[in-house]
Amino acid sequence: MIQIDTDGCVLGGRIRISKAAIISDGAIIAPYGGSIEIGAHAYIGPYCVLYGHGGLTIGRNVMIAAHTIIVAANHGIAQLDVPMGRQPLTMKGIAIGEDVWIGAGCKILDGVHIGNGTVIGAGSVVTKDIDAHLIAFGVPAKVAGRRHAPSDGECVRTSGGYAPTNAAS
Ligand SMILES: CC(C)(COP(=O)(O)OP(=O)(O)OC[C@H]1O[C@@H](n2cnc3c(N)ncnc32)[C@H](O)[C@@H]1OP(=O)(O)O)[C@@H](O)C(=O)NCCC(=O)NCCS
Repeated sequence: MIQIDTDGCVLGGRIRISKAAIISDGAIIAPYGGSIEIGAHAYIGPYCVLYGHGGLTIGRNVMIAAHTIIVAANHGIAQLDVPMGRQPLTMKGIAIGEDVWIGAGCKILDGVHIGNGTVIGAGSVVTKDIDAHLIAFGVPAKVAGRRHAPSDGECVRTSGGYAPTNAAS
């Protein structure tokens, strides 16, 4: 069962799911007054949670593996005498480009932009922007290498990440 109308929808908001996108069982899509846009042919895996407070865009052909959580907001924490749940939210929004692969069990935090064609390894917590065509993973996620076309040579890992075998040293 896909849960689209959760408590997050009490606040309104907008969900747009483009053609041929796949939303797997158990996924929760809750705009919380913001918007969630899922591009054509995108795949949202089982038990993913997508919150759209500050706006969440997911590009075409994106793959988001099971149990990933994307939260486009943070609770305010500046006041010590007001419960955090009653402080104003900060909301920057999250943008995920086209053809991005997000591995299982990732957390993507508010304000993050992920460029086209990038890979985020399983279990990562993404706290900062990751540019296009990179491979990043970890807690917090760090860039480990770059994707290369086959014409660049076979990709190999180096101590600094990945590099094509015919790259100038
Ligand atoms: C990111 C990923 C694509 C990299 O794959 P790869 O290029 O074959 O990487 P390797 O397995 O050769 O690992 C390279 C190094 O990075 C580390 N590493 C790889 N993925 C990692 C991750 N997600 N988190 C932390 N470290 C990771 C490995 O331990 C290894 O470290 P070492 O050099 O110290 O031995 C892959 O590890 C991954 O996370 N895939 C996601 C799988 C998934 O969630 N699928 C869901 C169904 S679609």
